[in-house]
Amino acid sequence: MSLKRKTRAVFSGRFGVIAAAAGSAIGLGNIWKFPYITHKYGGGAFVYVYLGFILAIGLPIMLSEIVIGRKSRRNAFGAFKKLAPGKPWKFIGIFGVGAAFLILSFYSVIAGWSLKYIVFSITDSFNSLDSAGISDLFENFHTSPGSPALYHIIFMILTGTIVIMGVHKGIESFSKILMPLLLVLLIVLDIKALTSKDAGNGLIFLFNPDFSKLTYEGILDALGHAFFSLSLGMGTLITYGSYIKKQNNLVRTAVQVTVADTVIAILAAVAIILAVPETDIASHKGGPGLIFIVLPNVFNMPDMIGGYYFSILFFTLLTIAALTSAISILEVVVAFFSEELKMKRNIAVGFAVVLITLLGIICSLSFGIYKDVTFFNLSVFDLLDFIATKVMLPLGGMLIALFIGWGFGRYKVFREIAHGGSLKGWFLRIFMILVKYVAPISIFLILLKMTGLLDLILGCFGFHFE
Ligand code: TRP
Repeated sequence: MSLKRKTRAVFSGRFGVIAAAAGSAIGLGNIWKFPYITHKYGGGAFVYVYLGFILAIGLPIMLSEIVIGRKSRRNAFGAFKKLAPGKPWKFIGIFGVGAAFLILSFYSVIAGWSLKYIVFSITDSFNSLDSAGISDLFENFHTSPGSPALYHIIFMILTGTIVIMGVHKGIESFSKILMPLLLVLLIVLDIKALTSKDAGNGLIFLFNPDFSKLTYEGILDALGHAFFSLSLGMGTLITYGSYIKKQNNLVRTAVQVTVADTVIAILAAVAIILAVPETDIASHKGGPGLIFIVLPNVFNMPDMIGGYYFSILFFTLLTIAALTSAISILEVVVAFFSEELKMKRNIAVGFAVVLITLLGIICSLSFGIYKDVTFFNLSVFDLLDFIATKVMLPLGGMLIALFIGWGFGRYKVFREIAHGGSLKGWFLRIFMILVKYVAPISIFLILLKMTGLLDLILGCFGFHFE
């Protein structure tokens, strides 16, 4: 492929890069999903395993993706085609486009809920309700057939419109102002949570690890979520990396995005878990509705000053955080369609949006009228989440690590990383060990364990562990 590109868009300045990449990483994963899965898997131990995965697997793979993107200046498929011509690595890109489809179809359903909660907030719907009423409101809304699907469609149209507007104007300008505002809002909610009388129990639940509560499923979820939250494993950061200028320091970008994403997730977990009533923590009542039930109760508290405005602001910012993430997922598909299949950008966006919206509608209905349609005991929503988050992202991440560790050439990797900054030898050595061995082997073992194959193999050698 020696085709000279016309002008390929690039991010302006350093802050633009970080804002866009952080805008992709910070989203529903941090604020909606992390608190509820932490709650589901019993707190502390899950949190520490998650943090371990972020550091040992997430960060090195993030750097790998950005390296691949910037070096190749291509979409997730074209990147491998250019860097390793004639080799099968490029199928990682196709796999990623598939994952992007699945993820966006359920992601935008939850984003649609958040959109609806802006409307609930504006119409002051929580105010007259007690906590049982707030639970019912969520229950009735998310299981109904029409309204959630409608908000999902609106959200997809919004996402598509912004992606058509292009990389620069669309993505950057949105992320720059609003993410810091979200951070401020979370800090206020944290202060509120930390000064409540039950704060101590919540903190113990969150940060005092009880490893006996951690299951293998929890470990897999922690791994999958590390990928999900950092937007890794399917080419988002390859695609975004391809818009980064040569002068930018990639290590700094990767570290800053990882730290920002993790801090936001922990702040969200503190704000939400501490506000979950004691009885619900014990009984693990929670699930995907957790924030939609817990937060309106917080906004309703008598000592919550300006709860009405807070609620509007919070769900607005959550929706926007979801939007900047959704844009980055859609961008993977669109960059592939337009650069590889030579579709016009508008057509590519339209085509992708329609398909994803349709799949999303089924997903939305799977909370209500299609609740009983299950595969391996999972509803359509859970199935898509399982396949994409727990299987495809870790697998994609493993292959990306293998490519950087073994496939691409140590020297070329170092040169690309070092561009735009100076690097210490020890850093590169640790990085190489992580991408060559630690990340791929741990991902492989966890996936093997989950499919039951690990027990089978170990059983053959007389080992048994539970
Ligand atoms: N990281 C985003 C979040 O936490 C979601 C997201 C954006 C994503 N791009 C992705 C997840 C790529 C997986 C892969 O909300």
